[in-house]
Amino acid sequence: MNAVDLLIQQHREIEGMLRKALDTEEADAREQLYKQAADHLAVHVASEEQIFFPAVKAGRTEDILLESLEEHLALKRLIADLEGLQPSEKTFEPKLHVLKEQSEHHHKEEEDDLFPKVRKMMDGQRLDQLGNEMLALQKRMQRDGEPREAVAEQTDKAAPL
Ligand SMILES: [Fe+2]
Ligand SMILES: [Fe+2]
Repeated sequence: MNAVDLLIQQHREIEGMLRKALDTEEADAREQLYKQAADHLAVHVASEEQIFFPAVKAGRTEDILLESLEEHLALKRLIADLEGLQPSEKTFEPKLHVLKEQSEHHHKEEEDDLFPKVRKMMDGQRLDQLGNEMLALQKRMQRDGEPREAVAEQTDKAAPL
């Protein structure tokens, strides 16, 4: 699968899951939806940081990638905070709201600034290959457990490029 198409599709899925979690009032159901969204966000971000970003790093993408990595750090910090909260606590919902807003903003920047450049830089075959590598990593992470839980260990500084 084409890496850029895959990432865009996952942006919409993650946004949908976060919206659904916010729209759900009942605490247990909200928690399950939040966990699902955070796991998807965690594997999405990991596959960008470990596979996609290093592969698309070039003079004209470096600034965007560095900004993206800082935005990933902010998203990870929100997830780490949410992991330490019960959905019944007063700050859970506002924090979840900020996670939704910041991920939407981040996705838009990647889609507007980064992906068009990547499509010009790389041919379809290379993008397919990258997409398959990312899917394999994501599946491995989902199979190994709850990927969002590892995010708390990555909140000191942004991942290196
Ligand atoms: Fe990202
Ligand atoms: Fe992304």
